[in-house]
Amino acid sequence: MAMSKTIYITTPLYYVNAAPHIGHSYTNVAADCLARYHRLKGHEVFLLTGTDEHGQKIAQAAAAAGQLPQVFVDSVVERFVALWKTLNVAYDDFIRTTQPRHTNAVQAILTKLYQDGTLKRASYQGWYCTPDETFWTEAELAAGVPSRTGTPAPPHAERGAPGSVAGAPPLCPSCQRPLESAKEEGWYLPLRAYQAWLVSFVRANPMFVRPESRYNELASLLKQPLPEHLCITRPKSRVSWGIPVPFSPDHVTYVWFDALLNYITVPGYVSDPEQFLRLWPADVHFIGKDILRHHAVYWPIMLHALGLSDDRMPKLIFAHGWWKIGEQKMSKSLGNIVDPSVVIGELLKGQPYAPDVYRYFLLREVPFGQDGNFSEEAISTRLESDLANDLGNLVNRTLSMIERYCDGRIPSAAPPGCAVEDEPLRQAATALPSVIDQAMARLDFSIALDAIMSVVSQANRYIESQAPWQLAKTSHTTRLHTVLNVLAEVLRIVAVGLEPFMPSVATAIWEQLGLEGAPQQLCDVARWPGIPPGQNIGTRQVLFPRTEAAATS
Ligand code: MSP
Repeated sequence: MAMSKTIYITTPLYYVNAAPHIGHSYTNVAADCLARYHRLKGHEVFLLTGTDEHGQKIAQAAAAAGQLPQVFVDSVVERFVALWKTLNVAYDDFIRTTQPRHTNAVQAILTKLYQDGTLKRASYQGWYCTPDETFWTEAELAAGVPSRTGTPAPPHAERGAPGSVAGAPPLCPSCQRPLESAKEEGWYLPLRAYQAWLVSFVRANPMFVRPESRYNELASLLKQPLPEHLCITRPKSRVSWGIPVPFSPDHVTYVWFDALLNYITVPGYVSDPEQFLRLWPADVHFIGKDILRHHAVYWPIMLHALGLSDDRMPKLIFAHGWWKIGEQKMSKSLGNIVDPSVVIGELLKGQPYAPDVYRYFLLREVPFGQDGNFSEEAISTRLESDLANDLGNLVNRTLSMIERYCDGRIPSAAPPGCAVEDEPLRQAATALPSVIDQAMARLDFSIALDAIMSVVSQANRYIESQAPWQLAKTSHTTRLHTVLNVLAEVLRIVAVGLEPFMPSVATAIWEQLGLEGAPQQLCDVARWPGIPPGQNIGTRQVLFPRTEAAATS
């Protein structure tokens, strides 16, 4: 029997040198949203996240905390696990690169490449960026490689390289921080030898990288000659915190080489060929734009070097933008990070669905792929206008009228069913699943949410125009029942559509409608009607109460 391919979605593995911040949560919320959407469509999904636990940067952070690296990473990883739990990120597996299932597989892969004769032993003089864990050759600095923002960094000589400003080290072309001189003596993976293949692969697969701006960045990066090799080992004398290289006792594995491999070690490239066939290739690698080069250049070259054919390359790498504070990127080293647990626990204090408000903000505020500015005002505004005034109000008004006028039982539409004035709303609601499908196919999370929220606004306007309270006063009972039925059906569809974005809110709306279980299938929500006639509504609850924090902002 042919196995059906599982939708395989990954996130980057986060460095555990410090606690998670909103940038990390952004990638995981987006990945979780897509995974939930596919589950709602009835697809098999495998969502993988985890932590990147090796390398100099982690070893330095552990030393600064006065702890052994393993003890240190064991404690920091808990903060990531706890945040994903708070944010309802329903991953299927969590990989830590220090786990034997990963380290053993990495060693097996290294041995294979060594035995194939793919890896070369050599020595290069160059520059190292510890925060980025990236080695730069003199030639790369001189060429002025594209920076993480996509704008080519100025060539070496303009940036105060040694020789231009006495003694000053050159700056990292990627993050603009000073580099350290380094001699990399070790094992190298050829890059330039595979460049022609990569160029033609990228050309033949215009959807390999999204958004388009990042695809163009990759295309222009590939117009320059790639460095001859990528050093995939580190001397133990300098960095001991890494996976030992089986055939070279003086070396550990370069942290990026080790970490990227997680995407195939977990599905079972080495240990479980059957599962590997079912999962691989990845359908979406979610990353931030800062790590495009690693994912769109090194990673496919690594897979190609391992002998994977073009149809076994990742289907899509989506590189989202940055959350900034003012005009600066939020980062641990700049010290301007926003801690998601502070946003949820303090700014959104008193909100029963604070994690969902946070998820909504991240996915609605900024078109996925672009940079965004984080501010407390922006999140409070979204909470008040979109969630409390629009969505919360619609749920509250609809259910309180059903309670008041229909003894808490959802009325059926009176024959002949919907009237002309109900049609636009009914049509907008039943069209919602296909509008969501189109947006999600492009990972346009904000557009999908916008479509859901515009049905919500339309339903609020419908309440105003139909004025159910007038119908109740004037004993137009059949019409009153139809209007309330239309509103309940709209809420049912909205709840399902919202599930990937705000899973707890969606379930709460579902339960308030008195429906069983949780919203589960997107395909049958467009059926109309979908609520059993005369069904009792559940316990009512205000979804987005006005709290002091919101009121004073
Ligand atoms: N460990 C590597 C990834 C290895 S993947 C095999 C790494 N880790 S990281 O913790 O530094 O950052 C990982 C990701 O966090 C970024 O790619 C991005 O997805 C996210 N973000 C970190 N800072 C961010 C912002 N300020 N804004 C948005 N996302 C950013 O790189």
